[in-house]
Amino acid sequence: MKLIGPFTQILPLSNLPLKGALQDEQLNIIPNGGILVQEDKIAAVGTYSDLEKQYSDCEKEIISGDQVALPGLIDAHTHICFAGTRSFDYAARNNGKTYLEIAKEGGGIWSTVTHTRKASQSELEALMLPRMDKQIRNGITTTEVKSGYGLNQEHELKMLRAIKAADENHAIDLISTCLAAHICPKDTDLDEKAYLDYILREIEPQIKEEKLTNRFDVFIEDSAFTPQLSKAYLLELKNRGYQITVHGDQFTAGGSQIAIDVEARSVDHLEASTQKEVEALGKSNVVAVALPGATIGLGCPFTPARALLDAGASLAIASDWNPGSAPQGNLLSQAAILGTFQKLSAAEIFSGITFRASAALGLDDRGTLTEGKLADIVAFPTDDFREILYHQGELKPSKVWKKGKNNF
Ligand code: NIG
Ligand code: FE
Repeated sequence: MKLIGPFTQILPLSNLPLKGALQDEQLNIIPNGGILVQEDKIAAVGTYSDLEKQYSDCEKEIISGDQVALPGLIDAHTHICFAGTRSFDYAARNNGKTYLEIAKEGGGIWSTVTHTRKASQSELEALMLPRMDKQIRNGITTTEVKSGYGLNQEHELKMLRAIKAADENHAIDLISTCLAAHICPKDTDLDEKAYLDYILREIEPQIKEEKLTNRFDVFIEDSAFTPQLSKAYLLELKNRGYQITVHGDQFTAGGSQIAIDVEARSVDHLEASTQKEVEALGKSNVVAVALPGATIGLGCPFTPARALLDAGASLAIASDWNPGSAPQGNLLSQAAILGTFQKLSAAEIFSGITFRASAALGLDDRGTLTEGKLADIVAFPTDDFREILYHQGELKPSKVWKKGKNNF
């Protein structure tokens, strides 16, 4: 057992509701706190002097100077398994072209598919590891990663195997998701329906065989898959035992209702959601995931996060780190900026990148600093939690513990 502390403040984020608006008064801050760790889990959280008395014989990790501790951050939506760059798309957008126009002209997702297909599994893993290094330096201890730049059996499986290998070779936990239904590949004669059938017939059984993931995603959009086709596809995957997540309401509304209909874990994007979609999500148990990195990368509206919370929805915030729409990849910075535009409390922002993000991923073993949860902890060098968001991602963690360890 090891006692870590004293922290000037601990924000355990425990005992907060999964859904709806939150105020900073609900944070239950522990001043001069300590965290007792046993192997990879939290054994107790409380006042440092009390824990010190109670566990006087145990090993101590002394924290010097002012530090504020939070649960390790969780990025519930990324595409960090990719090769190549899309700086040309970025420049074209800033010169007036739209994301969908660029996609129609052969740029966009398809251009990343051509680069990613050329990379080997080990090259893809090698490209991911420095991205994961950046994430853990920024306090992220769990990251979701999607396939979706392979778009055929060989290359979707290669991506998922690269994600599995990167997970095994890095302290961050990677949660993989199959996004073979990102767009219909441009090098086949298959139409959208036939391609979704191909995924179900040729890709999913191999995923099951190799235990590559237990999650599937689909991009519901005019340029990708219709709500109707997507619904049948997702229901079949649900029948086969998978968790479902959806890219929905990014440019046109429609995807979020499918996510609700199939009882998905989450629906992500929602920049185009109107009051109707907001209210439906508020009544549902689907976690709404805002992706401010895509707003900043594309110059489009922010997800209506304030309205979603006020309607009673659970709101997570993720980076969507990908080469096309969200190349920046700094979750804390993006979450803080979303907060300024959407008027979110610190409690709402921190919840969105911790326990509400773990709910989006279907994980109940992390996301709060509570007895029994994984000892994933991030400490920031400050005496007050408000400083963390105020610096919009520039106040970097002083220390990160993954499963109780920080030797990485
Ligand atoms: O979440 N919207 C669809 N997929 C990604 C973008 C991927 C890309 O442009 O490469 C997203 O924004
Ligand atoms: Fe995405």
